[in-house]
Amino acid sequence: MNSPTSHKYLNDLASKAGLTCFINSLLREYRGWSVGIWQEKEAVLIDLAPDVQAVLPLSHHSQLGLFQYQGEYVLKKGKVLRALSALELMDQILRYAPWSKPLAERDREELLARIENSNRIMFLALREQQETCGNLEMKPENFVQGEQSLWMGHNFHPAPKSREGWEDHELALYSPELNGKFALLWLEVHPSILVRKTSKSFSDHEWLVHMLASEGASGETILEKRDPNFSLLPFHPWQWQAIKKQVDIASYVDDGLIREIGETDSPWFPTSSVRTLYNPKHKYMLKYSLNIMLTNSVRKLYEHEVDRGLQVDDVLQSDVGKKWLSEYPAASVMGEPCYLAIKDHNGDLIPDTILSVRYNPFSEGSDERCFVLGALTQADSDEKGSLLKRMIDRLSKSRSLTLQSAAQEWFAHYLDVVVQPLLMAQADFGILMGAHQQNIVVKIDPTGIPEKLYFRDCQGTGYSKLGYDLLSPTIKSLDIENGNILQNNEGNILLSYYLMINASFAVINRLGVDCGLGEEPLIQQLRDYLLELRERGVQDSSCLDYLIDSAELLNKGNFICTVEQFNENTLENPLAIYQAIPNPIYQLGVQK
Ligand SMILES: Nc1ncnc2c1ncn2[C@@H]1O[C@H](COP(=O)(O)OP(=O)(O)OP(=O)(O)O)[C@@H](O)[C@H]1O
Ligand SMILES: [Mg+2]
Repeated sequence: MNSPTSHKYLNDLASKAGLTCFINSLLREYRGWSVGIWQEKEAVLIDLAPDVQAVLPLSHHSQLGLFQYQGEYVLKKGKVLRALSALELMDQILRYAPWSKPLAERDREELLARIENSNRIMFLALREQQETCGNLEMKPENFVQGEQSLWMGHNFHPAPKSREGWEDHELALYSPELNGKFALLWLEVHPSILVRKTSKSFSDHEWLVHMLASEGASGETILEKRDPNFSLLPFHPWQWQAIKKQVDIASYVDDGLIREIGETDSPWFPTSSVRTLYNPKHKYMLKYSLNIMLTNSVRKLYEHEVDRGLQVDDVLQSDVGKKWLSEYPAASVMGEPCYLAIKDHNGDLIPDTILSVRYNPFSEGSDERCFVLGALTQADSDEKGSLLKRMIDRLSKSRSLTLQSAAQEWFAHYLDVVVQPLLMAQADFGILMGAHQQNIVVKIDPTGIPEKLYFRDCQGTGYSKLGYDLLSPTIKSLDIENGNILQNNEGNILLSYYLMINASFAVINRLGVDCGLGEEPLIQQLRDYLLELRERGVQDSSCLDYLIDSAELLNKGNFICTVEQFNENTLENPLAIYQAIPNPIYQLGVQK
Protein backbone atom coordinates (compact mmCIF):
# COMPACT_ATOMS: atom_id res chain seq x y z
CA MET A 1 0.00 0.00 0.00
CA ASN A 2 1.26 3.46 -0.87
CA SER A 3 0.30 5.33 2.32
CA PRO A 4 1.99 8.63 3.34
CA THR A 5 4.24 6.65 5.64
CA SER A 6 5.30 3.93 3.22
CA HIS A 7 8.82 3.61 1.95
CA LYS A 8 7.60 3.83 -1.64
CA TYR A 9 5.60 6.99 -0.98
CA LEU A 10 8.57 8.81 0.53
CA ASN A 11 10.87 7.50 -2.16
CA ASP A 12 8.54 8.79 -4.89
CA LEU A 13 8.40 12.22 -3.24
CA ALA A 14 12.19 12.36 -3.04
CA SER A 15 12.63 11.26 -6.67
CA LYS A 16 10.11 13.81 -7.84
CA ALA A 17 11.82 16.60 -5.90
CA GLY A 18 15.21 15.52 -7.29
CA LEU A 19 13.85 15.52 -10.81
CA THR A 20 12.26 18.95 -10.36
CA CYS A 21 15.57 20.49 -9.27
CA PHE A 22 17.39 18.70 -12.12
CA ILE A 23 14.96 19.73 -14.88
CA ASN A 24 14.53 23.30 -13.66
CA SER A 25 18.28 23.85 -13.58
CA LEU A 26 18.60 22.32 -17.06
CA LEU A 27 15.86 24.57 -18.46
CA ARG A 28 17.63 27.67 -17.20
CA GLU A 29 20.79 26.71 -19.05
CA TYR A 30 19.62 24.97 -22.24
CA ARG A 31 17.50 26.71 -24.86
CA GLY A 32 16.06 23.69 -26.75
CA TRP A 33 12.71 23.40 -25.00
CA SER A 34 9.25 24.91 -25.00
CA VAL A 35 5.98 24.79 -23.13
CA GLY A 36 3.21 23.29 -25.22
CA ILE A 37 0.08 21.20 -25.08
CA TRP A 38 0.55 17.45 -24.97
CA GLN A 39 -2.49 15.17 -24.74
CA GLU A 40 -4.53 18.18 -23.62
CA LYS A 41 -2.11 18.94 -20.80
CA GLU A 42 0.26 21.84 -20.51
CA ALA A 43 3.72 20.30 -20.61
CA VAL A 44 7.41 21.11 -20.86
CA LEU A 45 8.80 19.61 -24.08
CA ILE A 46 12.57 19.20 -24.14
CA ASP A 47 14.29 18.54 -27.46
CA LEU A 48 16.85 15.79 -26.97
CA ALA A 49 17.60 14.92 -30.63
CA PRO A 50 15.79 15.37 -33.98
CA ASP A 51 12.35 13.85 -33.35
CA VAL A 52 13.14 12.87 -29.75
CA GLN A 53 11.59 14.79 -26.87
CA ALA A 54 11.20 14.47 -23.13
CA VAL A 55 7.66 15.39 -22.13
CA LEU A 56 6.76 16.51 -18.60
CA PRO A 57 3.16 17.60 -17.93
CA LEU A 58 3.03 20.61 -15.63
CA SER A 59 1.06 21.20 -12.48
CA HIS A 60 2.37 24.79 -12.28
CA HIS A 61 3.81 26.99 -14.98
CA SER A 62 6.36 29.56 -13.79
CA GLN A 63 7.65 32.65 -15.54
CA LEU A 64 10.65 32.44 -13.23
CA GLY A 65 11.54 28.87 -14.13
CA LEU A 66 10.25 27.25 -10.94
CA PHE A 67 8.06 24.74 -12.73
CA GLN A 68 6.19 22.04 -10.86
CA TYR A 69 5.52 18.73 -12.55
CA GLN A 70 2.62 16.30 -12.38
CA GLY A 71 4.84 13.25 -12.02
CA GLU A 72 4.29 11.74 -15.48
CA TYR A 73 7.51 11.46 -17.52
CA VAL A 74 7.46 10.44 -21.17
CA LEU A 75 10.09 9.90 -23.81
CA LYS A 76 8.68 10.58 -27.29
CA LYS A 77 10.63 9.12 -30.23
CA GLY A 78 8.79 9.95 -33.42
CA LYS A 79 5.33 8.57 -32.70
CA VAL A 80 6.47 6.09 -30.06
CA LEU A 81 5.78 7.07 -26.46
CA ARG A 82 7.53 5.50 -23.48
CA ALA A 83 6.58 6.19 -19.87
CA LEU A 84 9.66 6.48 -17.66
CA SER A 85 10.46 6.83 -14.00
CA ALA A 86 12.06 10.09 -12.82
CA LEU A 87 15.50 8.49 -12.70
CA GLU A 88 15.11 6.85 -16.12
CA LEU A 89 14.18 10.21 -17.59
CA MET A 90 17.27 11.88 -16.11
CA ASP A 91 19.38 9.01 -17.44
CA GLN A 92 17.92 9.51 -20.93
CA ILE A 93 18.57 13.24 -20.81
CA LEU A 94 22.18 12.60 -19.82
CA ARG A 95 22.56 10.02 -22.62
CA TYR A 96 21.39 12.50 -25.26
CA ALA A 97 23.12 15.46 -23.55
CA PRO A 98 21.65 17.82 -26.14
CA TRP A 99 23.42 20.87 -24.71
CA SER A 100 26.88 19.67 -25.73
CA LYS A 101 28.93 16.74 -26.91
CA PRO A 102 27.89 13.34 -25.46
CA LEU A 103 29.13 12.50 -21.98
CA ALA A 104 31.62 9.68 -21.55
CA GLU A 105 29.88 6.52 -20.26
CA ARG A 106 31.78 6.66 -16.97
CA ASP A 107 30.99 10.33 -16.39
CA ARG A 108 27.30 9.70 -17.02
CA GLU A 109 27.24 6.80 -14.60
CA GLU A 110 29.05 8.83 -11.95
CA LEU A 111 26.62 11.66 -12.38
CA LEU A 112 23.66 9.36 -12.11
CA ALA A 113 25.12 7.90 -8.93
CA ARG A 114 25.41 11.44 -7.55
CA ILE A 115 21.78 12.10 -8.41
CA GLU A 116 20.71 8.85 -6.73
CA ASN A 117 22.77 9.76 -3.69
CA SER A 118 21.09 13.18 -3.56
CA ASN A 119 17.62 11.60 -3.88
CA ARG A 120 18.43 9.13 -1.14
CA ILE A 121 19.33 11.92 1.26
CA MET A 122 16.02 13.62 0.51
CA PHE A 123 14.30 10.31 1.20
CA LEU A 124 16.15 9.92 4.50
CA ALA A 125 15.24 13.49 5.45
CA LEU A 126 11.55 12.87 4.77
CA ARG A 127 11.66 9.60 6.70
CA GLU A 128 13.32 11.35 9.63
CA GLN A 129 10.62 14.05 9.57
CA GLN A 130 7.89 11.43 9.39
CA GLU A 131 9.37 9.46 12.28
CA THR A 132 10.04 12.40 14.60
CA CYS A 133 6.91 14.49 13.89
CA GLY A 134 4.42 11.95 12.59
CA ASN A 135 3.83 14.04 9.44
CA LEU A 136 5.65 15.74 6.58
CA GLU A 137 4.80 19.37 7.34
CA MET A 138 7.94 21.36 8.01
CA LYS A 139 7.01 23.62 10.91
CA PRO A 140 10.25 24.99 12.30
CA GLU A 141 9.85 27.31 15.25
CA ASN A 142 13.37 28.48 15.84
CA PHE A 143 16.69 29.04 14.12
CA VAL A 144 18.07 25.53 14.38
CA GLN A 145 14.84 23.85 13.33
CA GLY A 146 14.76 26.07 10.24
CA GLU A 147 18.39 25.23 9.43
CA GLN A 148 17.62 21.54 9.70
CA SER A 149 14.37 21.63 7.70
CA LEU A 150 15.83 21.97 4.19
CA TRP A 151 14.93 18.47 2.98
CA MET A 152 15.16 19.54 -0.66
CA GLY A 153 17.94 22.10 -0.64
CA HIS A 154 18.98 24.06 -3.69
CA ASN A 155 16.02 24.20 -6.06
CA PHE A 156 18.10 24.74 -9.21
CA HIS A 157 20.67 22.01 -9.04
CA PRO A 158 20.88 18.56 -10.67
CA ALA A 159 22.03 16.89 -7.45
CA PRO A 160 21.13 19.35 -4.69
CA LYS A 161 21.67 17.08 -1.71
CA SER A 162 24.49 14.81 -2.86
CA ARG A 163 26.91 14.06 -0.06
CA GLU A 164 29.13 11.25 -1.24
CA GLY A 165 31.70 9.75 1.09
CA TRP A 166 29.61 9.50 4.22
CA GLU A 167 28.43 6.15 5.58
CA ASP A 168 24.87 6.02 6.91
CA HIS A 169 25.91 6.50 10.54
CA GLU A 170 27.97 9.56 9.49
CA LEU A 171 25.09 10.96 7.48
CA ALA A 172 22.86 10.64 10.54
CA LEU A 173 25.34 12.47 12.78
CA TYR A 174 26.51 15.24 10.47
CA SER A 175 23.54 16.07 8.22
CA PRO A 176 21.29 18.95 9.22
CA GLU A 177 18.22 17.51 7.48
CA LEU A 178 18.60 14.27 9.42
CA ASN A 179 18.51 16.27 12.66
CA GLY A 180 22.24 15.71 13.08
CA LYS A 181 24.01 16.73 16.28
CA PHE A 182 27.32 15.73 17.76
CA ALA A 183 30.05 16.59 20.26
CA LEU A 184 33.13 18.65 19.37
CA LEU A 185 36.55 17.09 19.63
CA TRP A 186 39.08 19.24 21.46
CA LEU A 187 42.71 19.33 20.44
CA GLU A 188 45.62 21.09 22.03
CA VAL A 189 48.08 22.50 19.56
CA HIS A 190 51.55 23.85 20.11
CA PRO A 191 51.50 27.63 19.51
CA SER A 192 54.43 27.33 17.08
CA ILE A 193 52.17 25.61 14.50
CA LEU A 194 48.94 27.50 15.14
CA VAL A 195 47.72 30.50 13.17
CA ARG A 196 45.28 32.79 14.91
CA LYS A 197 44.06 35.94 13.24
CA THR A 198 41.43 38.39 14.41
CA SER A 199 39.71 41.53 13.23
CA LYS A 200 40.87 44.80 14.76
CA SER A 201 38.06 45.04 17.27
CA PHE A 202 37.97 41.42 18.44
CA SER A 203 39.07 41.34 22.05
CA ASP A 204 37.48 38.15 23.38
CA HIS A 205 40.79 36.33 23.60
CA GLU A 206 39.68 33.81 26.23
CA TRP A 207 36.59 32.68 24.36
CA LEU A 208 37.67 29.05 24.13
CA VAL A 209 38.32 28.82 27.86
CA HIS A 210 34.92 30.43 28.55
CA MET A 211 33.30 27.99 26.20
CA LEU A 212 34.80 25.06 28.08
CA ALA A 213 33.97 26.58 31.46
CA SER A 214 30.29 26.71 30.50
CA GLU A 215 30.30 23.07 29.43
CA GLY A 216 30.06 21.57 32.91
CA ALA A 217 32.04 18.45 33.86
CA SER A 218 33.22 17.59 30.32
CA GLY A 219 34.62 21.11 29.86
CA GLU A 220 36.28 21.09 33.27
CA THR A 221 37.97 17.77 32.53
CA ILE A 222 39.48 19.22 29.37
CA LEU A 223 40.59 22.35 31.19
CA GLU A 224 42.26 20.20 33.86
CA LYS A 225 43.92 17.93 31.32
CA ARG A 226 45.24 20.64 29.05
CA ASP A 227 48.83 21.76 29.05
CA PRO A 228 48.70 25.55 29.61
CA ASN A 229 51.61 25.97 27.18
CA PHE A 230 49.43 24.66 24.37
CA SER A 231 46.55 26.37 22.58
CA LEU A 232 43.04 24.95 22.46
CA LEU A 233 41.43 24.06 19.15
CA PRO A 234 37.92 22.56 18.98
CA PHE A 235 37.49 20.42 15.86
CA HIS A 236 34.71 18.95 13.73
CA PRO A 237 35.18 15.27 14.63
CA TRP A 238 34.67 13.97 11.07
CA GLN A 239 37.09 16.49 9.59
CA TRP A 240 39.71 15.52 12.14
CA GLN A 241 39.39 11.83 11.18
CA ALA A 242 39.59 12.84 7.50
CA ILE A 243 42.83 14.81 7.86
CA LYS A 244 44.78 13.35 10.75
CA LYS A 245 46.69 10.97 8.44
CA GLN A 246 47.89 13.80 6.18
CA VAL A 247 51.69 13.97 6.28
CA ASP A 248 52.16 17.25 8.15
CA ILE A 249 49.38 16.60 10.63
CA ALA A 250 50.47 13.01 11.33
CA SER A 251 54.03 14.14 12.03
CA TYR A 252 52.79 16.83 14.43
CA VAL A 253 50.76 14.19 16.26
CA ASP A 254 53.79 11.87 16.40
CA ASP A 255 55.95 14.71 17.73
CA GLY A 256 53.40 15.62 20.41
CA LEU A 257 52.67 19.04 18.89
CA ILE A 258 48.99 18.15 18.47
CA ARG A 259 47.12 16.07 21.05
CA GLU A 260 43.50 14.96 21.31
CA ILE A 261 42.23 15.89 24.77
CA GLY A 262 38.57 14.92 24.76
CA GLU A 263 35.01 15.79 23.81
CA THR A 264 32.56 18.21 25.33
CA ASP A 265 29.03 17.08 26.10
CA SER A 266 26.67 19.68 24.78
CA PRO A 267 25.62 18.94 21.22
CA TRP A 268 26.49 21.07 18.21
CA PHE A 269 24.03 21.20 15.33
CA PRO A 270 25.09 21.35 11.68
CA THR A 271 23.31 24.29 9.99
CA SER A 272 21.97 24.24 6.43
CA SER A 273 25.46 24.58 4.92
CA VAL A 274 26.55 21.40 6.80
CA ARG A 275 29.97 22.88 7.61
CA THR A 276 28.85 25.61 10.01
CA LEU A 277 27.93 24.41 13.49
CA TYR A 278 25.55 25.98 15.96
CA ASN A 279 25.04 25.54 19.67
CA PRO A 280 22.37 27.70 21.35
CA LYS A 281 24.51 27.84 24.52
CA HIS A 282 27.45 29.53 22.87
CA LYS A 283 28.31 32.99 21.68
CA TYR A 284 29.88 31.88 18.42
CA MET A 285 29.10 29.52 15.58
CA LEU A 286 31.99 27.50 14.19
CA LYS A 287 32.56 27.15 10.46
CA TYR A 288 34.95 24.39 9.39
CA SER A 289 36.65 23.21 6.27
CA LEU A 290 34.92 19.97 5.36
CA ASN A 291 36.59 17.74 2.81
CA ILE A 292 33.36 16.69 1.20
CA MET A 293 31.71 17.73 -2.05
CA LEU A 294 28.39 19.56 -1.56
CA THR A 295 26.61 21.05 -4.59
CA ASN A 296 29.44 22.66 -6.60
CA SER A 297 32.53 22.44 -4.43
CA VAL A 298 34.59 20.52 -1.95
CA ARG A 299 33.82 22.52 1.15
CA LYS A 300 37.30 23.61 2.10
CA LEU A 301 37.90 27.07 3.42
CA TYR A 302 40.89 29.02 2.11
CA GLU A 303 42.98 31.71 3.75
CA HIS A 304 41.90 34.46 1.34
CA GLU A 305 38.26 33.56 2.10
CA VAL A 306 38.51 33.68 5.87
CA ASP A 307 40.49 36.91 5.64
CA ARG A 308 37.29 38.35 4.17
CA GLY A 309 35.52 37.60 7.45
CA LEU A 310 37.98 39.73 9.41
CA GLN A 311 37.75 42.39 6.75
CA VAL A 312 33.94 42.58 6.97
CA ASP A 313 34.22 43.00 10.72
CA ASP A 314 36.64 45.90 10.21
CA VAL A 315 34.39 47.40 7.53
CA LEU A 316 31.36 47.30 9.83
CA GLN A 317 33.32 49.10 12.54
CA SER A 318 34.39 51.83 10.10
CA ASP A 319 32.42 55.06 9.58
CA VAL A 320 31.22 53.78 6.21
CA GLY A 321 29.99 50.48 7.68
CA LYS A 322 28.36 52.20 10.64
CA LYS A 323 26.54 54.57 8.30
CA TRP A 324 25.10 51.62 6.35
CA LEU A 325 23.98 49.94 9.58
CA SER A 326 22.41 53.13 10.92
CA GLU A 327 20.53 53.81 7.67
CA TYR A 328 19.17 50.25 7.62
CA PRO A 329 18.62 49.32 11.27
CA ALA A 330 16.74 46.14 10.34
CA ALA A 331 19.88 44.78 8.67
CA SER A 332 22.81 43.05 10.30
CA VAL A 333 25.76 40.89 9.37
CA MET A 334 26.88 37.83 11.29
CA GLY A 335 30.51 38.86 11.53
CA GLU A 336 33.42 36.43 11.45
CA PRO A 337 36.01 38.20 13.56
CA CYS A 338 38.54 35.42 14.13
CA TYR A 339 39.99 32.29 12.57
CA LEU A 340 42.32 29.52 13.64
CA ALA A 341 44.31 27.04 11.57
CA ILE A 342 47.36 24.79 11.66
CA LYS A 343 50.50 25.62 9.65
CA ASP A 344 52.37 23.13 7.50
CA HIS A 345 56.14 22.59 7.74
CA ASN A 346 56.73 25.53 5.39
CA GLY A 347 54.75 27.83 7.64
CA ASP A 348 51.78 28.00 5.26
CA LEU A 349 48.30 27.62 6.61
CA ILE A 350 46.68 24.22 5.88
CA PRO A 351 43.22 24.95 4.38
CA ASP A 352 41.78 21.65 5.66
CA THR A 353 42.33 22.79 9.26
CA ILE A 354 40.65 26.20 9.12
CA LEU A 355 38.07 27.11 11.73
CA SER A 356 36.29 30.41 11.18
CA VAL A 357 34.49 31.90 14.17
CA ARG A 358 31.14 33.62 13.62
CA TYR A 359 29.04 35.68 16.04
CA ASN A 360 25.91 33.80 17.01
CA PRO A 361 22.94 36.16 17.35
CA PHE A 362 20.57 33.24 17.97
CA SER A 363 21.63 32.06 21.38
CA GLU A 364 18.94 30.53 23.58
CA GLY A 365 16.02 32.92 24.02
CA SER A 366 16.72 34.93 20.86
CA ASP A 367 16.43 32.07 18.40
CA GLU A 368 12.67 32.03 17.93
CA ARG A 369 11.08 32.88 14.58
CA CYS A 370 14.49 33.27 12.90
CA PHE A 371 14.60 31.26 9.69
CA VAL A 372 16.90 30.77 6.77
CA LEU A 373 15.04 32.10 3.71
CA GLY A 374 15.28 28.70 1.97
CA ALA A 375 13.15 27.18 4.75
CA LEU A 376 10.40 29.73 4.08
CA THR A 377 10.31 29.19 0.32
CA GLN A 378 10.72 25.42 0.28
CA ALA A 379 7.59 23.55 -0.83
CA ASP A 380 6.10 21.04 1.55
CA SER A 381 6.71 17.59 0.17
CA ASP A 382 3.09 17.35 -1.03
CA GLU A 383 3.56 20.70 -2.88
CA LYS A 384 0.37 21.96 -1.21
CA GLY A 385 1.94 24.55 1.04
CA SER A 386 5.05 25.95 2.64
CA LEU A 387 6.22 27.67 5.78
CA LEU A 388 5.73 30.96 3.96
CA LYS A 389 2.13 30.03 3.12
CA ARG A 390 1.44 29.31 6.79
CA MET A 391 2.76 32.76 7.65
CA ILE A 392 0.57 34.42 5.06
CA ASP A 393 -2.44 32.51 6.40
CA ARG A 394 -1.69 33.91 9.85
CA LEU A 395 -1.19 37.43 8.53
CA SER A 396 -4.38 37.31 6.48
CA LYS A 397 -6.40 36.22 9.54
CA SER A 398 -4.86 38.67 12.00
CA ARG A 399 -5.24 41.65 9.65
CA SER A 400 -8.46 40.52 7.94
CA LEU A 401 -6.79 40.62 4.54
CA THR A 402 -7.40 38.37 1.55
CA LEU A 403 -4.64 35.86 0.99
CA GLN A 404 -3.47 37.80 -2.06
CA SER A 405 -3.30 41.15 -0.22
CA ALA A 406 -1.52 39.49 2.70
CA ALA A 407 1.06 38.05 0.26
CA GLN A 408 1.67 41.52 -1.21
CA GLU A 409 1.92 43.02 2.25
CA TRP A 410 4.47 40.38 3.24
CA PHE A 411 6.47 40.99 0.08
CA ALA A 412 6.49 44.76 0.73
CA HIS A 413 8.11 44.08 4.10
CA TYR A 414 10.55 41.62 2.52
CA LEU A 415 11.59 44.34 0.07
CA ASP A 416 12.14 46.84 2.89
CA VAL A 417 13.89 44.49 5.30
CA VAL A 418 15.91 42.22 3.00
CA VAL A 419 16.24 43.66 -0.51
CA GLN A 420 16.69 47.36 0.21
CA PRO A 421 19.64 47.13 2.66
CA LEU A 422 21.52 44.69 0.46
CA LEU A 423 20.98 46.68 -2.73
CA MET A 424 21.80 49.96 -1.00
CA ALA A 425 24.98 48.45 0.46
CA GLN A 426 26.11 48.14 -3.16
CA ALA A 427 24.57 51.34 -4.50
CA ASP A 428 25.64 53.78 -1.77
CA PHE A 429 28.55 52.03 -0.08
CA GLY A 430 30.08 49.70 -2.68
CA ILE A 431 29.74 46.68 -0.37
CA LEU A 432 28.70 43.44 -2.08
CA MET A 433 27.10 40.57 -0.18
CA GLY A 434 26.40 37.22 -1.83
CA ALA A 435 22.93 36.94 -0.36
CA HIS A 436 21.37 33.79 -1.77
CA GLN A 437 18.54 31.93 -0.04
CA GLN A 438 20.87 30.06 2.25
CA ASN A 439 22.86 33.15 3.28
CA ILE A 440 19.81 35.14 4.38
CA VAL A 441 18.24 34.57 7.78
CA VAL A 442 15.03 36.48 8.44
CA LYS A 443 13.47 37.20 11.79
CA ILE A 444 9.71 37.13 11.57
CA ASP A 445 7.60 39.25 13.91
CA PRO A 446 4.71 37.73 15.90
CA THR A 447 2.20 38.70 13.20
CA GLY A 448 4.22 36.82 10.59
CA ILE A 449 6.04 39.56 8.64
CA PRO A 450 9.81 40.06 8.12
CA GLU A 451 11.29 42.17 10.88
CA LYS A 452 15.07 41.76 10.64
CA LEU A 453 17.74 40.56 8.22
CA TYR A 454 20.85 38.63 9.23
CA PHE A 455 23.31 38.19 6.38
CA ARG A 456 25.85 35.40 6.87
CA ASP A 457 28.78 33.95 5.03
CA CYS A 458 31.50 36.59 4.72
CA GLN A 459 33.44 34.35 2.30
CA GLY A 460 30.99 35.63 -0.33
CA THR A 461 31.59 39.34 0.21
CA GLY A 462 33.35 41.89 -1.96
CA TYR A 463 33.60 45.55 -2.91
CA SER A 464 32.99 47.58 -6.03
CA LYS A 465 35.15 50.49 -7.16
CA LEU A 466 32.94 52.77 -5.04
CA GLY A 467 33.54 50.55 -2.00
CA TYR A 468 37.26 50.45 -2.65
CA ASP A 469 37.44 54.26 -2.94
CA LEU A 470 35.37 54.79 0.24
CA LEU A 471 37.00 52.12 2.38
CA SER A 472 40.59 51.58 1.32
CA PRO A 473 41.93 54.67 3.13
CA THR A 474 40.94 53.09 6.47
CA ILE A 475 40.72 49.33 5.75
CA LYS A 476 44.24 48.34 4.80
CA SER A 477 43.27 44.72 4.13
CA LEU A 478 41.28 45.74 1.05
CA ASP A 479 43.54 44.31 -1.54
CA ILE A 480 43.02 44.14 -5.28
CA GLU A 481 44.88 40.80 -5.22
CA ASN A 482 42.50 39.10 -2.77
CA GLY A 483 39.95 38.61 -5.56
CA ASN A 484 37.05 40.43 -3.91
CA ILE A 485 37.48 43.91 -5.38
CA LEU A 486 35.28 43.58 -8.42
CA GLN A 487 34.63 45.49 -11.61
CA ASN A 488 31.13 46.97 -11.55
CA ASN A 489 29.76 44.59 -14.17
CA GLU A 490 31.10 41.52 -12.32
CA GLY A 491 29.83 42.62 -8.93
CA ASN A 492 26.40 43.48 -10.36
CA ILE A 493 26.08 40.08 -12.02
CA LEU A 494 26.93 38.23 -8.80
CA LEU A 495 24.78 40.35 -6.48
CA SER A 496 21.83 40.15 -8.87
CA TYR A 497 22.16 36.39 -9.24
CA TYR A 498 22.27 35.80 -5.49
CA LEU A 499 19.76 38.33 -4.24
CA MET A 500 17.32 38.33 -7.16
CA ILE A 501 17.49 35.10 -9.15
CA ASN A 502 18.31 32.78 -6.28
CA ALA A 503 16.54 34.45 -3.35
CA SER A 504 13.82 36.91 -4.42
CA PHE A 505 12.53 34.97 -7.43
CA ALA A 506 12.01 31.99 -5.11
CA VAL A 507 10.04 34.20 -2.70
CA ILE A 508 7.92 35.55 -5.57
CA ASN A 509 7.21 32.08 -6.91
CA ARG A 510 6.26 30.69 -3.52
CA LEU A 511 3.95 33.59 -2.67
CA GLY A 512 2.51 33.60 -6.18
CA VAL A 513 1.75 29.88 -6.29
CA ASP A 514 0.63 29.33 -2.71
CA CYS A 515 -1.51 32.46 -2.38
CA GLY A 516 -3.24 32.29 -5.75
CA LEU A 517 -1.72 35.57 -6.91
CA GLY A 518 0.55 34.39 -9.69
CA GLU A 519 4.08 35.68 -10.13
CA GLU A 520 3.41 38.72 -12.29
CA PRO A 521 1.90 41.14 -9.72
CA LEU A 522 4.87 40.46 -7.45
CA ILE A 523 7.43 40.93 -10.23
CA GLN A 524 5.65 44.24 -10.90
CA GLN A 525 5.88 45.13 -7.22
CA LEU A 526 9.60 44.37 -7.32
CA ARG A 527 10.08 46.42 -10.48
CA ASP A 528 8.22 49.41 -9.01
CA TYR A 529 10.32 49.15 -5.86
CA LEU A 530 13.59 49.13 -7.81
CA LEU A 531 12.45 52.11 -9.90
CA GLU A 532 11.65 54.01 -6.72
CA LEU A 533 15.07 53.24 -5.22
CA ARG A 534 16.74 54.48 -8.38
CA GLU A 535 14.64 57.64 -8.52
CA ARG A 536 15.63 58.45 -4.95
CA GLY A 537 19.17 58.87 -6.23
CA VAL A 538 22.13 56.67 -5.32
CA GLN A 539 25.91 56.91 -5.58
CA ASP A 540 26.26 54.07 -8.06
CA SER A 541 23.13 53.09 -9.96
CA SER A 542 24.86 50.47 -12.13
CA CYS A 543 23.33 47.46 -10.37
CA LEU A 544 19.83 48.95 -10.32
CA ASP A 545 20.28 49.87 -14.01
CA TYR A 546 21.31 46.31 -14.80
CA LEU A 547 18.30 44.87 -12.95
CA ILE A 548 15.78 47.27 -14.46
CA ASP A 549 17.08 47.89 -17.98
CA SER A 550 18.94 44.82 -19.04
CA ALA A 551 16.96 42.40 -21.25
CA GLU A 552 18.92 39.49 -19.78
CA LEU A 553 20.44 38.61 -16.43
CA LEU A 554 23.31 36.23 -15.93
CA ASN A 555 22.47 33.07 -14.03
CA LYS A 556 24.88 30.71 -12.30
CA GLY A 557 25.01 27.49 -14.33
CA ASN A 558 24.71 24.82 -11.67
CA PHE A 559 23.70 22.24 -14.25
CA ILE A 560 26.74 22.72 -16.45
CA CYS A 561 28.99 23.09 -13.41
CA THR A 562 27.87 19.67 -12.18
CA VAL A 563 27.88 17.92 -15.54
CA GLU A 564 31.34 19.23 -16.40
CA GLN A 565 32.53 18.39 -12.86
CA PHE A 566 33.90 21.85 -12.11
CA ASN A 567 34.84 22.76 -8.56
CA GLU A 568 33.28 26.20 -8.31
CA ASN A 569 35.56 27.27 -5.51
CA THR A 570 38.74 26.79 -7.52
CA LEU A 571 37.53 28.14 -10.88
CA GLU A 572 39.88 30.85 -12.10
CA ASN A 573 36.99 32.95 -13.38
CA PRO A 574 33.83 32.42 -11.28
CA LEU A 575 31.75 34.02 -14.04
CA ALA A 576 32.77 31.31 -16.52
CA ILE A 577 29.75 29.21 -15.49
CA TYR A 578 27.24 32.08 -15.78
CA GLN A 579 24.78 32.20 -18.68
CA ALA A 580 22.12 34.68 -19.82
CA ILE A 581 18.45 34.16 -19.00
CA PRO A 582 15.57 36.54 -19.87
CA ASN A 583 15.11 39.26 -17.26
CA PRO A 584 11.46 39.21 -16.04
CA ILE A 585 11.88 42.59 -14.32
CA TYR A 586 12.82 44.20 -17.64
CA GLN A 587 10.16 42.30 -19.60
CA LEU A 588 7.34 43.82 -17.53
CA GLY A 589 8.58 47.29 -18.42
CA VAL A 590 8.60 46.47 -22.14
CA GLN A 591 5.07 45.02 -22.04
CA LYS A 592 3.63 48.33 -20.80
N1 LIG B 1 18.98 28.24 -2.70
C1 LIG B 1 20.21 27.89 -2.36
N2 LIG B 1 21.27 28.54 -2.90
C2 LIG B 1 22.53 28.21 -2.58
N3 LIG B 1 22.83 27.21 -1.74
C3 LIG B 1 21.84 26.52 -1.18
C4 LIG B 1 20.49 26.82 -1.46
N4 LIG B 1 19.73 25.97 -0.75
C5 LIG B 1 20.57 25.17 -0.08
N5 LIG B 1 21.83 25.49 -0.32
C6 LIG B 1 23.00 24.80 0.26
O1 LIG B 1 23.68 25.67 1.16
C7 LIG B 1 25.08 25.66 0.95
C8 LIG B 1 25.47 27.01 0.43
O2 LIG B 1 26.86 27.13 0.39
P1 LIG B 1 27.59 28.43 0.82
O3 LIG B 1 28.94 28.38 0.20
O4 LIG B 1 26.74 29.64 0.64
O5 LIG B 1 27.65 28.28 2.41
P2 LIG B 1 28.88 27.91 3.26
O6 LIG B 1 29.96 28.87 2.93
O7 LIG B 1 29.23 26.49 3.10
O8 LIG B 1 28.39 28.09 4.78
P3 LIG B 1 27.65 29.28 5.55
O9 LIG B 1 26.47 29.71 4.75
O10 LIG B 1 27.26 28.68 6.86
O11 LIG B 1 28.64 30.37 5.70
C9 LIG B 1 25.36 24.55 -0.03
O12 LIG B 1 25.66 23.39 0.67
C10 LIG B 1 24.05 24.41 -0.78
O13 LIG B 1 23.81 23.10 -1.20
MG1 LIG C 1 26.29 30.04 2.76
